[in-house]
Amino acid sequence: MSDKPEVQYVATTQPVASRGFLGAVGAHFKKWWWVHLIIFAAVVLIITLPLIYVGYPRIAQSDVNKSTLNITNLVFSNPSPTSIHINQTQILGNKAIYHPTIYAFNATIMLVGATAPLATVSIPRLQAEDGAVIVVDTDLALNNSDAVTDFTKAVLGTEKFELNFYGRPDLKEGPLPTSTVTFNKTVAMNGMNGLKGFELQDIMISLIPAKDGTNMNGSVSIPNTSVITVSMGNVTLDVSVNGTQIGQSYLNDLTLKPGSNIIPLKSTINQTQVISLISGTKAAYPSGVIPLSIVGNSSVYNGVEIPYFTQALAANPLSTDMNVTQVLINSGLGDLAGAL
Ligand SMILES: *[C@@H]1O[C@H](CO)[C@@H](O)[C@H](O)[C@H]1NC(C)=O
Ligand SMILES: *[C@@H]1O[C@H](CO)[C@@H](O)[C@H](O)[C@H]1NC(C)=O
Ligand SMILES: *[C@@H]1O[C@H](CO)[C@@H](O)[C@H](O)[C@H]1NC(C)=O
Ligand SMILES: *[C@@H]1O[C@H](CO)[C@@H](O)[C@H](O)[C@H]1NC(C)=O
Ligand SMILES: *[C@@H]1O[C@H](CO)[C@@H](O)[C@H](O)[C@H]1NC(C)=O
Ligand SMILES: *[C@@H]1O[C@H](CO)[C@@H](O)[C@H](O)[C@H]1NC(C)=O
Ligand SMILES: *[C@@H]1O[C@H](CO)[C@@H](O)[C@H](O)[C@H]1NC(C)=O
Ligand SMILES: *[C@@H]1O[C@H](CO)[C@@H](O)[C@H](O)[C@H]1NC(C)=O
Ligand SMILES: *[C@@H]1O[C@H](CO)[C@@H](O)[C@H](O)[C@H]1NC(C)=O
Ligand SMILES: *[C@@H]1O[C@H](CO)[C@@H](O)[C@H](O)[C@H]1NC(C)=O
Ligand SMILES: *[C@@H]1O[C@H](CO)[C@@H](O)[C@H](O)[C@H]1NC(C)=O
Ligand SMILES: *[C@@H]1O[C@H](CO)[C@@H](O)[C@H](O)[C@H]1NC(C)=O
Repeated sequence: MSDKPEVQYVATTQPVASRGFLGAVGAHFKKWWWVHLIIFAAVVLIITLPLIYVGYPRIAQSDVNKSTLNITNLVFSNPSPTSIHINQTQILGNKAIYHPTIYAFNATIMLVGATAPLATVSIPRLQAEDGAVIVVDTDLALNNSDAVTDFTKAVLGTEKFELNFYGRPDLKEGPLPTSTVTFNKTVAMNGMNGLKGFELQDIMISLIPAKDGTNMNGSVSIPNTSVITVSMGNVTLDVSVNGTQIGQSYLNDLTLKPGSNIIPLKSTINQTQVISLISGTKAAYPSGVIPLSIVGNSSVYNGVEIPYFTQALAANPLSTDMNVTQVLINSGLGDLAGAL
């Protein structure tokens, strides 16, 4: 009996105490489970939301920063003073683990170093896979003529230039929320390097002008331009020797494209002047080889002058030699060449 209280203590009080604690905890949870759920959810959200809404956009931005853009093909066609058609192929480089969808966005194109953007181009929606091909085939509105002229001068006259693409696209990766990133990419491109390698080939003259008034023809060879193709329309060039104009040359429907360009040429040349340069006692070039300086006079497309091409051609004088003796022989006028 004396044990009983102990037994009772052990048998009743202790279980009651433990059951009471667990019971109290259980009862607490039974009553307040929703508070704990909210707290748990809040903690989860506090940890994950920054990851999703702060960390993920940062990762996305960092991946966008690391991505590369290469222009593999760039075709300018159908120019007018205020617009030009562009067909551009770009390759996206993305080594990141995320390949989000980048929604369509407007990007401004600017020649690096210029003061104003060249144009705004609409970039289509794309999947940011490594090697994704982005084709932009659209008419560009050209509203800043200085920016366009600077651009065409850079394309024609420089070995390398840089184009900047800037936009703020939305992107989305799987179930993650949409995030707006800054797309600011500068792409280095090869220019046409002043049409280096420009050469006259198979030049012939005729003493009697053709129906169109020209009296010299042949072709122009321009090797290795760049990845860029430009349609410049009907181009007129002024031809001079040591500062004195001797005539004009015409390149009809001139399109400069990658690789070798062989373009038919027609000219109206003052033959009296040319002959006086190479023959007679006061001849400046008795060897028969005259140094030609060729400067753009105009570019006309569909009857309209294209100022940004005219100015770019004018800013890029070309020099080449012409062996008049050889030209006369080619033209079947070898006797004349011998007489000079
Ligand atoms: C992305 O690049 C810009 C500069 O172009 C820089 O200001 C920004 O901090 C970069 N962002 C990240 C997340 O790397
Ligand atoms: C634009 O360029 C792409 C790729 O070079 C070509 O497949 C497409 O036909 C071109 N579009 C036009 C209108 O020339
Ligand atoms: C882009 O060009 C760079 C340099 O020319 C080259 O290293 C890179 O592999 C090219 N990326 C793609 C996707 O073609
Ligand atoms: C691009 O700009 C044009 C004209 O401002 C607008 O109509 C168009 O909705 C823009 N596109 C996107 C994807 O923002
Ligand atoms: C001309 O271009 C600039 C810069 O791209 C732009 O801010 C402006 O709205 C454009 N103006 C017109 C009339 O399109
Ligand atoms: C793009 O980035 C370059 C250098 O990273 C910076 O100089 C330029 O201001 C940026 N462009 C814009 C529109 O923020
Ligand atoms: C070029 O000129 C020569 C000599 O006058 C003439 O025989 C030839 O037909 C002309 N070729 C072209 C393509 O006009
Ligand atoms: C044209 O490019 C090829 C290959 O890149 C090179 O071998 C050749 O020398 C270049 N020609 C000129 C005239 O620059
Ligand atoms: C050709 O040049 C000579 C000498 O400079 C000049 O007298 C003649 O008028 C010119 N002919 C034409 C058609 O311009
Ligand atoms: C080129 O013209 C200048 C004057 O304009 C003259 O002094 C020089 O002798 C000329 N050169 C040749 C090779 O005729
Ligand atoms: C170039 O001139 C020719 C003949 O005058 C004409 O038929 C052609 O349409 C012109 N080309 C362009 C692109 O204007
Ligand atoms: C010009 O052509 C003639 C005839 O082919 C040739 O004899 C002469 O050597 C050439 N002159 C030069 C400087 O190449």
